[in-house]
Amino acid sequence: MNYSIALVPGDGIGPDVVAQATEVLDAAGDKFGHVFNYVELEAGGCAIDHTGEPLPPETLEAAKQCDALLLGAVGGPKWETLPGNLRPERALLGLRAGLGVYANLRPAALLPQLWSACPLKDEVLAADNPPGTGGFDLLIVRELTGGIYFGKRGRSDDGNSAFDTETYSKVEIERVLRIAYAAAEVRRKKLCMVDKANVLESSRLWRELTQALSREYPHIETSYMYVDNCAMQLVRSPGQFDVIVTSNLFGDILSDEASVITGSIGMLASASLGDPASAPGQKGPRGIYEPIHGSAPDIAGRDIANPLAAILSAAMMLRYSFGLETEALAIEAAVNAVLDAGLRTADIAGRGDPGGTERIVGTREMGAAVLKALLGEG
Ligand code: IPM
Ligand code: MG
Repeated sequence: MNYSIALVPGDGIGPDVVAQATEVLDAAGDKFGHVFNYVELEAGGCAIDHTGEPLPPETLEAAKQCDALLLGAVGGPKWETLPGNLRPERALLGLRAGLGVYANLRPAALLPQLWSACPLKDEVLAADNPPGTGGFDLLIVRELTGGIYFGKRGRSDDGNSAFDTETYSKVEIERVLRIAYAAAEVRRKKLCMVDKANVLESSRLWRELTQALSREYPHIETSYMYVDNCAMQLVRSPGQFDVIVTSNLFGDILSDEASVITGSIGMLASASLGDPASAPGQKGPRGIYEPIHGSAPDIAGRDIANPLAAILSAAMMLRYSFGLETEALAIEAAVNAVLDAGLRTADIAGRGDPGGTERIVGTREMGAAVLKALLGEG
C-alpha cells in the first residue's frame, strides 16, 4: 500500500533526526511491501526565514492532503526575540489546531538498558514497579487543541493586567477521554484523570465527564488525582501510573517531568491524534508524530543528535495512523536490539553499560544500525 507522509524537518537537529527516521521507514517499507511518499514542508524558524511566517498557509494545506505528518523540531535562539505570534512555536500550535489532532500521546518508560540514567533512587523505582517493566511504563494523554492554549487572552485597556482563559467543552473533553480509555484498554487497564477540581470549574467538568464515562469502561480502573499531587507522585512512585489523561497545560508540564525521569529525553516519541479517517483513504486517525526533544541548535548538523526518538515516532505513525502494528513492533525491536548491543549516542552514553559493550556513535551510525537490525543484518 502507498502512504503519503508530510515531512516537516524544521530547525536545529530536526533535519538530522528526520533523515534517519525516513531511512528506517523506507527499509520497513521494503521489508513489508509498503511505499512511503514524502512531501517535504517548511514550518518553524526556517519558514520564518523564507516566508516571514512560522506556518505558511501552503504548509498547512499540503499537510492536510497527506496521511500523516512527521515533524523534527522547531525553534532556536535566532527567533526568540520575535513577537509571540511570529515565533516558531506558533507553527506547532497552528499544525495541531489545523489538523485537528486533539489527543497527544506521550509514552515515558524507563528502559532496562538505560536504568542508571534515571535520576530517581532505586528504592523509588522499586515502589509499585509494574510487572515486566524496568521501574515504570506510563503514558500521558494530553488534550492538545483546547484549554488555556487556545482560550481568550489579552491585556486590559490600561495595560495593567493580562488574562488567559481555560475553557473546555464537553465534546473536547469526552473525545480525548475516549482515546485515553482506548489506550488503557491495550495497556495495564488503569486510567488516572489529573485535574485541579478542588479549585477550577473546568476541572470539575472533566471530573464529572470522566465519572460518567468510566461506567462504560468497568474493566478499566479509573482514578482521580489533583495535578499538584500528581507532580509529586511522579517522582515518588512513578510505577503506580499506567495512563494519565489531562488537560493541555497540565499535560505539557507533567510530560516534561515524566520525560526527565526516564533519563533519556532523546529517546521519547509522541503521537498527536485526531478523529479516525479524517484524511482521504486513511486507515487510522490523522496524526502528527514528533520526538519530544527540542531543536538543540548547538548540536545541529554535527552528527551527534540521538535519532531514536524520531525513529520511534515513525513507528508510532505506522501503528496509529496506518494500522501497521507488525511493522511498528519491528522498528521498536530494532531500536531495542541496538541498545542491547551497547550502541549509544552521546546523550545516553555512560549511563548503564551492563555488559561493558557500550560504544558511542553519531546520528547516522545509530540510524544505520537500527536499519540493519530491522533488516535482520544487525
Ligand atoms: C510541547 C512544547 C510546546 C507546548 C511549545 C513549544 C509550544 O512545550 O510540545 O510540549 O507547550 O505544547
Ligand atoms: Mg512542553
